Amino acid sequence: MSGIEGKVIAVTGASSGIGEATATYLGEKGARLVLGARREDRLNAVVDKIKAAGGTATGVIVDVTRREDLQRLTDTAIDQFGRLDVLVSNAGTMAVSPFDDLRQDDWDAMVSVHITGLLNGIGAALPVFREQRSGQFVNVGSTAAYVVKPPQAVYAATKTAVKVLTEGLRQESGPDLRVTLVSPGFTNTEGVGKGASPEAAAAMTQQRDAIAMPPSAIAAAIGYAIEQPEGVDVSEIVVRPTVQA
Ligand SMILES: NC(=O)c1ccc[n+]([C@@H]2O[C@H](COP(=O)([O-])OP(=O)(O)OC[C@H]3O[C@@H](n4cnc5c(N)ncnc54)[C@H](OP(=O)(O)O)[C@@H]3O)[C@@H](O)[C@H]2O)c1
Repeated sequence: MSGIEGKVIAVTGASSGIGEATATYLGEKGARLVLGARREDRLNAVVDKIKAAGGTATGVIVDVTRREDLQRLTDTAIDQFGRLDVLVSNAGTMAVSPFDDLRQDDWDAMVSVHITGLLNGIGAALPVFREQRSGQFVNVGSTAAYVVKPPQAVYAATKTAVKVLTEGLRQESGPDLRVTLVSPGFTNTEGVGKGASPEAAAAMTQQRDAIAMPPSAIAAAIGYAIEQPEGVDVSEIVVRPTVQA
């Protein structure tokens, strides 16, 4: 199966930002969507918007740090649509702060959402993809994995882990599966600065408002990777605003 139309695509972190834009984009192209996030009201609003536009979408309340929640997300795809073609692991948190602030709960959250969350997705979807002898992982990384800037070290480290896990998974995936890393630069979403230390949040939102690209730019990159013919693996895409260093 190539293209986007008819594919069963699960997206984590679909209640806002890049995940919402990706779900909307894929819904317009005829994907059958299973969307996961924790905020029920926001997730339902995205599902309703996609359905109102003629698309197909179901929402599942998912905390990616919980293994059973990812299992429920992929089970929902199988129960409702009989298969799963793509898992977009996008859920994330940009709660950055300087080390001296010792915001260890935020460090833990970035580790568990980006690393454990990604592994939970792999654990839930890989058996399905193996059984089908087809499937695609699309993992959302960050340019922070390429250029490390203070005070983003923990965030950058966890996104570096996403990059490494994606490449390792690609090498182990064999001829039937596709594995893609999409690494955004500054993107205009509510998540920029959310949960960050006050100084970091102020700097990030100011930079976002000055230079960020729309989340639709990342949605289109993800769509490009998905729509390639079977046997063509877009392994890595980095998308930045032109003015981002
Ligand atoms: N915006 C940027 O400049 C930028 C740049 C590079 C990379 N990224 C990456 O892009 C991804 C999306 O971020 P965004 O910019 O679109 O921010 P966002 O609007 O805050 O979106 C983050 C999404 O992740 C979900 N999420 C967070 N923790 C979760 C958890 N434990 N379980 C399930 N869902 C969870 C949130 O939904 P709930 O709160 O409803 O669960 C939300 O839907 C992240 O991985 C981020 O690191 C963003």
